[in-house]
Amino acid sequence: MTNQNEAIFDYFKRPLKDLRISVTDRCNFRCHYCMPAEIFGPDYQFLKKDEILSFEELNRLVMLFHRATSLQKLRITGGEPLMRKDLPELIAKLSQSTGIEDIAMTTNGVLLPRHAKALKEAGLKRVTVSLDSLDSEKFGRINGKGIGIEPVLKGMQAASDAGLGVKVNMVVQKGVNDSDIVPMAKFFREKGYMLRFIEYMDVGTSNGWKYDEVITKQEIIERLHAEMPLEALEPAYTGEVASRFKYIGSDDEVGVISSVSDAFCHSCTRARLSVEGSLYTCLFATKGHDFKSLLRDGHSDEEIIQEIQQSWNKRDDRYSVERSLDGNNNRPKIEMSHIGG
Ligand code: GTP
Ligand code: 5AD
Ligand code: SF4
Ligand code: SF4
Repeated sequence: MTNQNEAIFDYFKRPLKDLRISVTDRCNFRCHYCMPAEIFGPDYQFLKKDEILSFEELNRLVMLFHRATSLQKLRITGGEPLMRKDLPELIAKLSQSTGIEDIAMTTNGVLLPRHAKALKEAGLKRVTVSLDSLDSEKFGRINGKGIGIEPVLKGMQAASDAGLGVKVNMVVQKGVNDSDIVPMAKFFREKGYMLRFIEYMDVGTSNGWKYDEVITKQEIIERLHAEMPLEALEPAYTGEVASRFKYIGSDDEVGVISSVSDAFCHSCTRARLSVEGSLYTCLFATKGHDFKSLLRDGHSDEEIIQEIQQSWNKRDDRYSVERSLDGNNNRPKIEMSHIGG
């Protein structure tokens, strides 16, 4: 009999703690750094219903991950996860079957007013909402749909009213929205939501990433510090993705995610389940491990548990560290909309 929820380690002695689950490849936005409209246009073939895992399949697989590893945290992603019909049903299933308390979701926020209450009741604890500017016109250009900031702010409010924790993510791109760094920080400090700036990453292949477009963590901190002095904080837990800072003289915090300039692979305990049911052990992995076939070909729980453990034991990914060592970002990579953020 396999151990229950005990740590298993990869090649670099990192345990698996955090599973990020993509529930759809669809999105109601077309952010140019993620799903550029030229590529994800009207003729783009999204996956069909039978190509993606059903709630029953997902629930079984996540239960097996929970049994096979020291999984402690789930994050629901997409695409836009709220484009998946009846999502609260999945969250209730996962919450009940694993007992995992920390269940979070990454979303663009616009469908939250409709679903926040049901999500909270189902067992969701917190949401991370993406917003890249406070200027509605600019934000409309970035999201590729002309959607202004109001629907997103309403989504955050609905989540907060429903009792969900709210964090905000801003992807920073030079010449696109770097002038919004300070206004965003001031606005969300006032609102009381933790804002995290994300360095623009070379994830996927469709966004045509260039290093020149990255504003580094150091530059972000310098710009903030010049207006509102900051002090670095210790990580809240080993492997925390964001470096956190406190505005001196208060308890208000802000974070920066430095996956390009200061990689954090050494403490990466994250696995990702793509919408097609493949396991990716790195955000930049070129190949996944197909669990959909195992589920559909009638393999036993024990067999699937073994596959989970073997895939993690073999894991030696540390893409961001390697890219900063050799500068090579030309490997074929999976799109963010399939693997989640
Ligand atoms: P909490 O601390 O649980 O709130 O979550 P988190 O810090 O993991 O935050 P979140 O899931 O919102 O991640 C924020 C962003 O950081 C993601 O959208 C990615 O852009 C980036 N990110 C998260 N995990 C990784 C990772 O493993 N590698 C890299 N390179 N980037 C990551
Ligand atoms: N670089 C950095 N962050 C990205 N995200 C999507 N694409 C990229 C990228 N190329 C972020 C989104 C959202 C989460 C899903 O990932 O802004 O917060
Ligand atoms: Fe959609 Fe999020 Fe990608 Fe934007 S970043 S296109 S909101 S999945
Ligand atoms: Fe983890 Fe890969 Fe990101 Fe490094 S690049 S932190 S190994 S997901």
